[in-house]
Amino acid sequence: MHGTGISLGAQATCLRGAAVPRSTKSGFRPRAAPVVATMAPSKEEVTSSFAEEFTKEIVEEEKKYILQTYARPDIVFTHGEGARMWDAYGKEYLDFAAGIAVNALGHSDPRWLEAVTEQAGMLSHVSNLFHTAPQVKLAKRLVENSFADRAFYANTGTEANEAAIKFARKYAKVKAGLDPYNAETALDCATDIVSFTGSFHGRTMGALALTYKDQYKTPFQPVMSGNVMVPYMDLDAAKAVIKKGQTAAVFVEPVQGEGGINPASTAFLQGLRDLCDEADALLVFDEVQVGLGRTGKLWGHEHSGVQPDMMTLAKPLAGGLPIGAVLLREKVAEVMAPGDHGSTFAGNPLVCHAACTVFDIISDPEFLADVTRKGELLRSGLREALAGNPHVQEVRGLGLICGVQLDVMAGPLVNAARDRGIIVITAGKGDIVRLVPPLVVTEEQIAQCCAVLGELAKEVLV
Ligand SMILES: Cc1ncc(COP(=O)(O)O)c(C=O)c1O
Repeated sequence: MHGTGISLGAQATCLRGAAVPRSTKSGFRPRAAPVVATMAPSKEEVTSSFAEEFTKEIVEEEKKYILQTYARPDIVFTHGEGARMWDAYGKEYLDFAAGIAVNALGHSDPRWLEAVTEQAGMLSHVSNLFHTAPQVKLAKRLVENSFADRAFYANTGTEANEAAIKFARKYAKVKAGLDPYNAETALDCATDIVSFTGSFHGRTMGALALTYKDQYKTPFQPVMSGNVMVPYMDLDAAKAVIKKGQTAAVFVEPVQGEGGINPASTAFLQGLRDLCDEADALLVFDEVQVGLGRTGKLWGHEHSGVQPDMMTLAKPLAGGLPIGAVLLREKVAEVMAPGDHGSTFAGNPLVCHAACTVFDIISDPEFLADVTRKGELLRSGLREALAGNPHVQEVRGLGLICGVQLDVMAGPLVNAARDRGIIVITAGKGDIVRLVPPLVVTEEQIAQCCAVLGELAKEVLV
């Protein structure tokens, strides 16, 4: 049995009607659902009571069938185009969250859709026991456009970090002259992983250990041992703990995302580079959120000119399909052997073919320059719209990752914005409004977002 109130046929009708935007101004129709053309409901069927019933059923069944690890509002999104999304009522939203910095090309980008459908029609998955062309083509693009010599694929950001932790641990053993497969001597080398306050590296036991917030870790202790947490941007504190024979790697986000849109200074990153070189430790940049164009440069660390030994990537890489990657230097790559690490799904042809298309679009210097320009527009627009509000302390960021620092919790403003059709999220201690729109967001959409937030701030931040 599927639900109670609405039949499957009726749900489909609802999705094609209230959900699918015969009523939107753009006249947009989802390209991937040809069934819509033949089964579109009449205008009379597209009623708000129908959408209400549909939304209610999805929300109720989500509560009943899905593990409750997310607090979600009662909105069911049904489709999107560029930086816009629509819910089941046909209400339009401007998506300034982009699936938490994932949908870099926005929703339903035709070039991305073509790549996905083309590859899905040929070969979507082959185990990593065999070669496929798309994963090699993507690796070539990533390596030839970065500091790295090799790429390793994962499926998410946390998995990419998990892999980088493993590579660092094995690198330390080999560097120490140990047989890495000898359990008796395996710990006679550097094993510590240093990370920083405010960091977010993921939710699996290794990446979680490196993540700052106790609330994410405490219920699941013990997480991976060997983490040393140091205040972000405090080079002296880092110096005190990064030690030869003790520190295997240092993980840092060149711009902290979840931590509060905090760009690291060049001096800090260069200081870490020097400390790692002195200690024979690996410097790992977590660019899961800011890598691939988000900051207006292809990689976030390009703003500093400091290069890591490894870099982890994920969110935007395949334009919405799950992917993670570690880019690494040959000195690290050469310690890894067949069988040391792997993943069933990682780097499959579907995801990698989509990612090649995403990469080719975003790596165009003109596209990146546009991200920089639009990021400046967003920050100046927000500063102007929020000027004089006593609770707004700072508008900061790089490219199209932007944070509005408040001296109160950001939840009420974020919720009010959502009600008015602007999707933004929080960061930091919940006192920052985070804006990470699709990189294809338009100037008009930026202006609209700033105007609505400015207006709402006057009502909410009093
Ligand atoms: C910097 C950073 N690292 C790692 C992760 C974890 O990525 P995922 O949620 O794909 O596991 C995130 C997610 O927000 C992130 O922002």
